[in-house]
Amino acid sequence: LPTGTDLRAEIDRLRKERNAVILAHYYQRPELQDLADFVGDSLELSRKAADTDADVIAFCGVKFMADTAKILSPEKIVVLPDMNAGCSLEDSCPPEKFKAFREKHPDHIALTYINCSTEVKALSDVIVTSSSAETILQQIPEDQPIIFGPDRHLGGYLNRKFNRNMLLWPGVCIVHEAFSERELLKLKEQYPDAPIAAHPECPPHIVDHADHVGSTSAILQFAKTFSGDTLIVATEPHIIHQMQKALPEKNFIGAPGADGNCNCNICPYMALNTMEKLYTCLRDLEPRIEIEEGLRLRAKRSLDNMLGMAA
Ligand code: 13P
Ligand code: SF4
Repeated sequence: LPTGTDLRAEIDRLRKERNAVILAHYYQRPELQDLADFVGDSLELSRKAADTDADVIAFCGVKFMADTAKILSPEKIVVLPDMNAGCSLEDSCPPEKFKAFREKHPDHIALTYINCSTEVKALSDVIVTSSSAETILQQIPEDQPIIFGPDRHLGGYLNRKFNRNMLLWPGVCIVHEAFSERELLKLKEQYPDAPIAAHPECPPHIVDHADHVGSTSAILQFAKTFSGDTLIVATEPHIIHQMQKALPEKNFIGAPGADGNCNCNICPYMALNTMEKLYTCLRDLEPRIEIEEGLRLRAKRSLDNMLGMAA
């Protein structure tokens, strides 16, 4: 890029020229959240991608999110600033192993977290996000056997809360796995009145200390309405940007990892997207998401089931 390029202005120019919409997840860098047309959780971003009348979707998030946008809006060009923006949950669940797991349990339906590959979506019956999982699970008869993948912590949380016995795939999110209970309790001693909000991707030893458990949007909503002045946030710390913007007078503290600070909980995949890469992907319309049509249609079935069942 020529030195002195005003990236923000160039992105704005290209967004108009391309008739592009920029979607961003709450875990993106603040500067990307600030220039996006829409910031949201996985369910809200899927809905936006399905509804937009833009010609191009520039997805500031990770690959499974951009894939979802393409599955739901195949006629649009979907670009992802960095194709290496993966997800440890997706990586934990190779389609051929998931297929074998399903075949071992033919009487089970597959309820699957959206953090997975298009192939795994195509092998699933209903997709869920953290904000739609509870509503969807409650619509499935209690005697229906279920396999739930790839996040064993979200699955375990749902099993405990709704007294279910879903068989769990052993995947984890490396970000939420890294919170330290010992350090969290130390922080809680320092701020005894501060509630803890946690994402259900956290392991039970973190979730058990939480006053509120929910998706990124639900945590943000909680942050906007809680009555104290300090909140401990046990999810990827970039979401604090939105909290601080909405309530600048309050104190939001990222839950700590083993080293006592929240920097080890930055998602390394989400962090791959930058202003420079957003600019070049809008300029070149590359890297672009492409999905074979038969696979897309099979994956769309389980996503449509989610969109129909989510509140
Ligand atoms: P939600 O925004 O749907 O809560 O998802 C969190 C997450 O880990 C996305 O990768
Ligand atoms: Fe995947 Fe966790 Fe990063 Fe979300 S925060 S993209 S679940 S690794």
